[in-house]
Amino acid sequence: MDRLLPTEPSVMAPGAVHLPGWMDADLRVEFVTRCRAWGEASGGARHPRMRNGSSMSVAMVGLGWHWYPYRYSRTRDDGDGGRALAFPSWLGELSRRALVDAAVIDARVAADPEQFAPDVALINWYGPGATMGMHVDRDEVAPAPVVSFSVGATGVFRFGNPSGRGRPWVDMPLESGDVVVFGGPSRLAYHGVPRLAADTFDPAVGELLGRLNVTVRETGLTD
Ligand code: SIN
Ligand code: MN
Repeated sequence: MDRLLPTEPSVMAPGAVHLPGWMDADLRVEFVTRCRAWGEASGGARHPRMRNGSSMSVAMVGLGWHWYPYRYSRTRDDGDGGRALAFPSWLGELSRRALVDAAVIDARVAADPEQFAPDVALINWYGPGATMGMHVDRDEVAPAPVVSFSVGATGVFRFGNPSGRGRPWVDMPLESGDVVVFGGPSRLAYHGVPRLAADTFDPAVGELLGRLNVTVRETGLTD
């Protein structure tokens, strides 16, 4: 795939690293295949309902833990009540590798990248028009970073600061295969996806008309 956008790793904010093209085509295809299977096995991706009664435009599936506003549960409490699918160890290992690579670019992402012990993956499906408002990932009690994989359409990732929803922020287009890691001083930074870039897709993953994003995290929670 020819890239139109940044090709070099960059630091978006202290402890927030963009790794463009980190995933090769085989891995991107693997993500699509697995995410489809996980969606089916968990009874279909859900649009979480927010406290104000509206539903998120993004459809989600959790591995390891189920997330719904604003907590983690081992069971799909706002759905069919089934147990969340297991968090796969290969995904934890892959995320640790991405984190180690990010720490070479900015050591502030994690005190000890090798100790990253993720236990949850949240799979987000952005169909046409889906967005995600500015928010903080704060339902985890562990201070470990978030590792985020993107496949399919390009998403504009708005990465701000821990002080509030406003500026300063950067709008980083995330192409298929990009990885973002945020931790340390940016672990509680506001971020969101205000839009998908028009008419973008990754031919390597077939007719995927939308964007897949998988965030891998360490909850620090016990049953
Ligand atoms: C998220 O903030 O949980 C998702 C970010 C993304 O879709 O890139
Ligand atoms: Mn988030």
